Amino acid sequence: TPLEQQLKDLESFQVIAHRGASGHAPESTMAAYELANEWGADYLELDVQITSDGELVVFHDDAIDRTSDGEGNIHDYTLEELKALDTGTWFNDANVDKADPAFAGAQILTLEELFERFGHDARYYIETKSPLLNPGLEEALVEALEEHDMIENGRVLVQSFEQGSLLKLRELNQHIPLIQLVWYSPSEEDNDRLVEWTGVTPAPADITDEDFQAIKEYAVGIGTNVTYNGEDVIDADFIRQAQENGLPVHVYTINEVDEMKRLQDWGVNGLFTDYADRLLELAD
Ligand code: G3P
Ligand code: CA
Repeated sequence: TPLEQQLKDLESFQVIAHRGASGHAPESTMAAYELANEWGADYLELDVQITSDGELVVFHDDAIDRTSDGEGNIHDYTLEELKALDTGTWFNDANVDKADPAFAGAQILTLEELFERFGHDARYYIETKSPLLNPGLEEALVEALEEHDMIENGRVLVQSFEQGSLLKLRELNQHIPLIQLVWYSPSEEDNDRLVEWTGVTPAPADITDEDFQAIKEYAVGIGTNVTYNGEDVIDADFIRQAQENGLPVHVYTINEVDEMKRLQDWGVNGLFTDYADRLLELAD
């Protein structure tokens, strides 16, 4: 089945376009997804949040300030209010060399618009962002995935830092392939906080097969950072141990070619990158 094929593909290497081709176009906009799709990225990565009137939008930050001409928290606004914002001009201002007048005025994208544009021709790597700030997110997401027949067609992975969000998704539909995200730090204190926040896994140095198996109970893979302030927080052994426990590992967010090569040598199963073009060239 297409879903089985998707899971099999996870064993090889996946190019994951982080917020679309966000190194070349304003993140999370249609222009960024058009480009990544054109290049042939394996997955379009996106974060979903919910508006005050219950619509799913593709947006990373809790606040709209950094990437739009508005201010405040995204979930305090209706879709209509958000649609009036310009989410492209900030990119042109910040990247003079990549600026394109066509980006100006880019609207916040709904999940529906993204699905309608690419349908089953793309695969989507969807993060439930800040589940506590976005009540109803999981229910709305599962409804959208089912309506568009995304799950059985092997079109979607759903990722979250919060185990509780993934468990809720699984309760709503047990076929969605889930990815547990983690965020490691060299500091023990930070890692303790991570355990509290996400509900999973101690620091890589202490992680056991049992810890990986506990994730394997509900997830098909892991997404992790590699470095923290330039210092490695995992190594090739971590990757291998996860894989031996049946969990492919995707790492975020890797933009430099040398770093891409280093991680491919470690045997990771995929990279989240703002520059899918660079990674696709390497993979060739
Ligand atoms: O989803 C993987 C990676 O995107 C997690 O970090 O903050 O870019 O969503 P963030
Ligand atoms: Ca994300």
